[in-house]
Amino acid sequence: MYFKRKFPNSRLRRMRLNSNLRDLLAEVRLSTNDLIQPLFIKEGLIGKEAIESMPNINRYGQDSIFSEIEDLLEHDINTIALFPVINDSKKNSTGDEAINESNLMCETIINIKKRFPEIILISDVALDPYTDHGHDGILKNDYVDNDETLAVLTKQSLTLAQAGTDIIAPSDMMDGRIGYIREALDEMDYKNTILLSYAAKYNSKFYGPFRDAVNSASSLGNSSKASYQMSPKNINEALHEVAMDINEGADIVMVKPGMPYLDIISKVKETFKVPTFAYQVSGEYSMLKLAIDKGWLESDVMLESLISFKRAGADAILTYAAKEISKEITNK
Ligand code: PBG
Repeated sequence: MYFKRKFPNSRLRRMRLNSNLRDLLAEVRLSTNDLIQPLFIKEGLIGKEAIESMPNINRYGQDSIFSEIEDLLEHDINTIALFPVINDSKKNSTGDEAINESNLMCETIINIKKRFPEIILISDVALDPYTDHGHDGILKNDYVDNDETLAVLTKQSLTLAQAGTDIIAPSDMMDGRIGYIREALDEMDYKNTILLSYAAKYNSKFYGPFRDAVNSASSLGNSSKASYQMSPKNINEALHEVAMDINEGADIVMVKPGMPYLDIISKVKETFKVPTFAYQVSGEYSMLKLAIDKGWLESDVMLESLISFKRAGADAILTYAAKEISKEITNK
């Protein structure tokens, strides 16, 4: 023995000896129950079409979405988040189509719920898929007017609840919307409709591919959402947003984007100890997926990225990779 020093009492490598041990000692796990698949539904489309900036992700027509959902259920993905792509001709400055009770979202929700009553459906609340300027609310002198927007978002929420969505997810970042929507839901006796608030939603460039997917990028042009979405420089403000939304009646809070904001997920979970979701957004997905497709990164990076959300404290994750990752995590 050449060493004068005694070996340490603890050898942490002991517990990394083989994969059964590593699994036994895993501190966090990812299961299909943690994953939510976002789905794009496009008005008037027959079949499906690829989204160029999101490898492997499609827009679905009202016919083809059912087989995709069947496939998801077979992969044990039981929760989906629906996003509409409506005809440009139906967009206007006030986003009126959002409150049409027989719009694309409502029809799709009704049809999905008829066939798959057990699936958990999340519906986004915001006006950007419906406005011709691409903003989440109503513009007045180039500024999104908070209180006028609240009235429309509340109506939009009621139409989605009436169609049978399980979860309403306001992603617009107007002040006070959770309180407004909760009150309206209670008044109309939708007592069990869950409110998932995009509570800390940052003004992020990682949303780029999503805006292509729903065709709002061209409408938005160079205009920015910085006057309502949060500055990436702020931390305490996120906690303030979350506190307000919980007080106003949110059941679940969400942080978005995900990987660049793991610190925020962790702080929100530690501070409030309420159900906390995170969104691995389009840009995060496309970066990883493209590098994997090019062979620059191994495909396991996707799983590694999702594990990082669990470590940070996320209870569930919206990710475009939900279905493909489910194949890798069965029983893990
Ligand atoms: C709409 C909305 C956006 C996303 C979800 N809901 C885009 C935005 O705020 O501009 C982004 C999702 C993603 O990038 O995957 N309010």
